[in-house]
Amino acid sequence: MKHSNQIVIGGDDQVFVLTGAGVSAESGLATFRGSNGLWEGEHVEDVASPGGWARNPERVWRFYSMRRRAAASAEPNLAHIALAELERKLGQRYFLCTQNVDDLHERAGSRNLVHMHGELFESRCDRCTRAPFRDTCLYESRAEHRRCECGGYIRPNIVWFGEMPFHLERIFAELRRCTVMLVIGTSGMVQPAASFVHMANEHQGRGLTALRTYYVGPEHPANAAAFTHAFAGRAGELLPNLFALR
Ligand code: OAD
Repeated sequence: MKHSNQIVIGGDDQVFVLTGAGVSAESGLATFRGSNGLWEGEHVEDVASPGGWARNPERVWRFYSMRRRAAASAEPNLAHIALAELERKLGQRYFLCTQNVDDLHERAGSRNLVHMHGELFESRCDRCTRAPFRDTCLYESRAEHRRCECGGYIRPNIVWFGEMPFHLERIFAELRRCTVMLVIGTSGMVQPAASFVHMANEHQGRGLTALRTYYVGPEHPANAAAFTHAFAGRAGELLPNLFALR
């Protein structure tokens, strides 16, 4: 993996961006892994799995209410702003896939994005197929738990372990056509996102693109070997000066 100074984006490039919890770290939102990470104080299976929801929905809602509260008081940082700015310049040649459930990318101005792990400020029924709806409420006690007209319980519209991520078809299509892949602030430990760089490399292997793959973050991710370039540091410090458009 080479270390470089800037990412040069040409007029024919198609940019795929994948972000993880690290892009929101400088906004004060905790990442998952590492000291003070969200998974340090919680057992993942208690708050982020269908089994945990079935056993103790109150505990699950306490966890996501805490995260709603934190996200509502956070502000987009320079990394979110730099990505929104890049999108404004590239238009349809830019696509953002985030694993984050916060809304900081949108609040910075990003539009062409998908939340593959769901959205913190959306809820849905755990039984029927009624569409997810915007929901900023905090459910911190059992009395507040809402039920759907069908009798099911309202749950966070978050993808839990064992559930299928959202928007995969669109994501795979974008992976097939990208020429620049930029991955920011994710440990490369959770599938399928950790394999996106391999999938993009595979398309290149078939002679489809001249792909460059970049990782931005203070530590090497678990899938570091799959990237052609790395920028070591914090996203909010690096991104504002990272892109050179030709
Ligand atoms: P992790 O907590 O696993 O990794 C966060 C990464 O961000 C680490 O590699 C840090 O080095 C990096 N990082 C920290 N501060 C940074 C900064 N200022 N700038 C750039 N990078 C920084 O979080 P994710 O990889 O996003 O899924 O986790 C993936 C998924 O695992 C999450 O979406 C979540 C979790 O379980 C679900 O809940 C379904």
